[in-house]
Amino acid sequence: MDLYEYQAREMFESHGVPVLPGLIATTPEEAQQEAEHLHDGLLVVKAQVKTGGRGKAGGVKLASTPQEARDRAGEILGMDIKGHTVHTVLIAEGADIAAEYYFSILLDRSNRTHLAMCSREGGMDIETLARERPEALARVPLSPFRGIDEGVALEILEAAGFTPEEQVRIAPVLVLLWDVYRDEDATLVEVNPLVSTPDGRVIALDGKVTLDDNAAFRHPDHAALADISAEDPREAAAKAAGLNYVRLEGEVGIIGNGAGLVMSTLDVVALAGEELRVRPANFLDIGGGASAEVMARGLDVILGDEQVRSVLVNVFGGITACDEVARGILGALDQLGERAHKPLVVRLDGNKVAEGRKILAAAAHPLVHMSDTMDGAARLAAELAAEERPAPSHAPARA
Ligand SMILES: Nc1ncnc2c1ncn2[C@@H]1O[C@H](COP(=O)(O)OP(=O)(O)OP(=O)(O)O)[C@@H](O)[C@H]1O
Ligand SMILES: [Mg+2]
Repeated sequence: MDLYEYQAREMFESHGVPVLPGLIATTPEEAQQEAEHLHDGLLVVKAQVKTGGRGKAGGVKLASTPQEARDRAGEILGMDIKGHTVHTVLIAEGADIAAEYYFSILLDRSNRTHLAMCSREGGMDIETLARERPEALARVPLSPFRGIDEGVALEILEAAGFTPEEQVRIAPVLVLLWDVYRDEDATLVEVNPLVSTPDGRVIALDGKVTLDDNAAFRHPDHAALADISAEDPREAAAKAAGLNYVRLEGEVGIIGNGAGLVMSTLDVVALAGEELRVRPANFLDIGGGASAEVMARGLDVILGDEQVRSVLVNVFGGITACDEVARGILGALDQLGERAHKPLVVRLDGNKVAEGRKILAAAAHPLVHMSDTMDGAARLAAELAAEERPAPSHAPARA
């Protein structure tokens, strides 16, 4: 889960990382009221969107009074930044900046370790710096046991070319940022810019934090950081039902057991649907126990998606045998009643496949089509989706 800058700012503050006072607002009037609580000097109004390059897009503006903050907020709210609409602004006290640096800690999967990156040249687009002048960006692998203590912090800053005086001043902030990374189970903590003020203070002026969702169970407080409004409602419903679901763009709903099988099912459907111009509508892995209950929850999510025209259930019976799966499918259709009205292609294989197919054949449910092979099932599901595509409406529009 990615956090908004204002959430990262609060998290930094709770770990003692120096940040500037800041408040959020969702309307220009609120921005003015909040700005009254900040200092009398320079203010900064910043778009809160989960994408980079906000400054360049006009999403970071200066203001010298609360009235000006209101006007700048009016310009920024509603703005579109790389496809993200701005619903919230952060109003922060303006810093007197002597120098801007870059610092980040991230999970470096390719090297199976954590990595610190640091540069004296912050503020700018770090990808450009890394590409054009890689020597200006120090990369220091971190031991997960030691992390960043004072000594490691000094090494990182030395590698980035900071003077000994600067190293001593900045090191404690890097140690605190490691605390955030470790204690919050983050996979990214990035500060761009980390600034020095003329009086020698070091402040995090921006913050990007990505939390490891696999560690969510250790952090009950993280749930409150989730941005429900930005989530696809179907993905949110699936998550609440404990399903592993990702919505895609196509017309063929997919349910399978096991991530690998579902991934290959997406491929086969994409291939079968190429000429018919239909594509998979989602990824949905119902996992090991394909009980009627789980099957019903999965079908409910998929059938509620108006873009879905047909559904392919592709289950390989393992620990859960095919006869149970067959009963699960029929039970699910029963539970869903009228909500189930789109054709279902079922391909079963593996443990007790003969029994499973027999149960489905005997039930002769009008929505259920059976197929013995994965390719055959994908073709049939694609054809049904193509047939079910609504014909263009010729009804005259009413005034
Ligand atoms: N509180 C502040 N006081 C003074 N200047 C600021 C403040 N916050 C940001 N700035 C200036 O605005 C620039 C851009 O701000 P920021 O880093 O938050 O956004 P960005 O880098 O454009 O966005 P992103 O990090 O999403 O790419 C900073 O490099 C800094 O020069
Ligand atoms: Mg930035």
